[in-house]
Amino acid sequence: MSELERWMSARGHRCEAAISRWLPPQQQFPESLHRAMHYAALNGGKHFRPLLVYACGEALDIPEERLDGLAAALDMLHAYSLVHDDLPAMDDDDLRRGKPSCHKAFGEATAILAGDALQALAFKVLASDPALDASPAARIRIIELIAEAIGSRGMAGGQAVDLESEGRRLDPAELEAMHIHKTGALIRASVMAAAHCSPPLPETQRQQLDHYAKCVGLAFQIHDDVLDEIGDAHKLGKASGADRARAKNTYPALFGLRESQQMAHDLIAEACTSLERLEQNTDRLKALASFVIERQA
Ligand code: IPE
Ligand code: IPE
Ligand code: MG
Ligand code: MG
Ligand code: MG
Repeated sequence: MSELERWMSARGHRCEAAISRWLPPQQQFPESLHRAMHYAALNGGKHFRPLLVYACGEALDIPEERLDGLAAALDMLHAYSLVHDDLPAMDDDDLRRGKPSCHKAFGEATAILAGDALQALAFKVLASDPALDASPAARIRIIELIAEAIGSRGMAGGQAVDLESEGRRLDPAELEAMHIHKTGALIRASVMAAAHCSPPLPETQRQQLDHYAKCVGLAFQIHDDVLDEIGDAHKLGKASGADRARAKNTYPALFGLRESQQMAHDLIAEACTSLERLEQNTDRLKALASFVIERQA
């Protein structure tokens, strides 16, 4: 295992432990809903958004204990988005992380409610986590920026475009906007929310960090599209070729595979360049950026 893999694995476990602390016990009424929430939120996954939080904390000298709640909340929101993304009314995927997707295991109604409840719990964590040592104003700003990132002008909006445009070709600008919204926005918010847990950065540095996060977020979805084309379904834990089968708008569909890979590569280079002007040690953020396009799942 490389040093980065060890670091990622340890932070992933940290985040899972934090999620476990906040989730209602599975034996507690209503059991089926609580079991579905555990299933969705603690069922593997790379914890990429939490990893960005911890990496940002490393750069800005924020103790990890203060970031666990934020990391957990972001992964709950991500888990909720996946549960809904897999529903028959959306992507209709039977597999997630190598197991039956939430609605396959618990039924559609319970899966919908598990997503809703994970979303609500994430905001409870953000509002009440005592370890999130942010000023009241910073806490409210964090809640606001995450709410914006997942709403109609963020993830939900991008998902709406994704579904409405199945079978109809988007132009490059529309496709980029869709990816920036459906996936990029939460990734960007993860970095910027973590940055709000430390004294405010000078404006130009804040913008550099934001640009890094925006590039990484877009590259993440481009690579997800690439993996849907050429990834190993076993490693992915979800069916490959699903986007093509549903006539989804993806980077490979519009630009071809090689061009898409080049675009993701260029975005990651741009993300890393954007960090150059920060005086902090941003090595971990750079390593996570590279991971985005090197990962096989
Ligand atoms: C998959 O996200 C869906 C997208 C937003 C592209 P991840 O690749 O982060 O999924 P997990 O959490 O690691 O399973
Ligand atoms: C999902 O994008 C984006 C979300 C907001 C969940 P995809 O639909 O491409 O994600 P996968 O490939 O099913 O994981
Ligand atoms: Mg989708
Ligand atoms: Mg999907
Ligand atoms: Mg995909």
